[in-house]
Amino acid sequence: MAGNIKLQICETADEVSVEAAKVFADIIRSIPDAVIGLATGSTPEQTYEELAKIHKSEGLSFSGVTTFNLDEYWGLNGDHDQSYRHFMNTQLFDKIDIRPWNTNVLNGAASSPSLECEAFETRILASGGIDIWLLGIGGNGHIAFNEPGSPVDSRTRLVSLSEDTIEANSDGRFFSDPAEVPRCALSAGIGTIREARKLVLLATGLKKADAIAAAVEGPFSPDCPSSLLQDHPDCTFILDQDAASKL
Ligand code: F6R
Repeated sequence: MAGNIKLQICETADEVSVEAAKVFADIIRSIPDAVIGLATGSTPEQTYEELAKIHKSEGLSFSGVTTFNLDEYWGLNGDHDQSYRHFMNTQLFDKIDIRPWNTNVLNGAASSPSLECEAFETRILASGGIDIWLLGIGGNGHIAFNEPGSPVDSRTRLVSLSEDTIEANSDGRFFSDPAEVPRCALSAGIGTIREARKLVLLATGLKKADAIAAAVEGPFSPDCPSSLLQDHPDCTFILDQDAASKL
């Protein structure tokens, strides 16, 4: 399928972060009560740093903004230093004026995963839907924790992590040993993500080049979950030269 995905190719990974932060800052300037989807992982860290800088130097206010995060490890509570709640608090939320009660990260220690996921979807609907969702991509093409095989209409749910993902997340950046990586996560579904009005996916480095080529130029197929963004009306990939090198 020749998709609609727009490509913005930057010289460096630093430039990817600056460009991504600009897109989010512009949305927040034009919609002060924007509803924003966020991602964790290494790729968006510098984008969050840039947004915190813009908040500090230009007074960009997040006080009306509501956020929803893509995913959370199942079994970790928000105080765990590898939880995505902890990541978001330390990388972004604690550095800006967002109201903590407007930040939605799935609770990995909820007593019922299905009720937790249902409540997350209900809160997205009640907030009027997501204006823009920031995404990363796994080396196997996953988005959020939607691993290969995830259906296009999947919703927020408890999922198993693939061996590739467990490996990728235990390379010392996050966990130091694969045995420490939780085997399951709560993840927004592909259907949930596709309903956002705008999508921005970031990828940097050669490790992402095959996944980017499959997402942009490969078939529209659950075999590469990110290819299921090809028919989204407003989806941009911001890439560095390395991530774009197989296009
Ligand atoms: C994280 C997420 C994942 C990551 C992906 C890439 O919230 O949804 O899909 O975006 O695993 O991770 P990094 O950026 O660490 O390469």
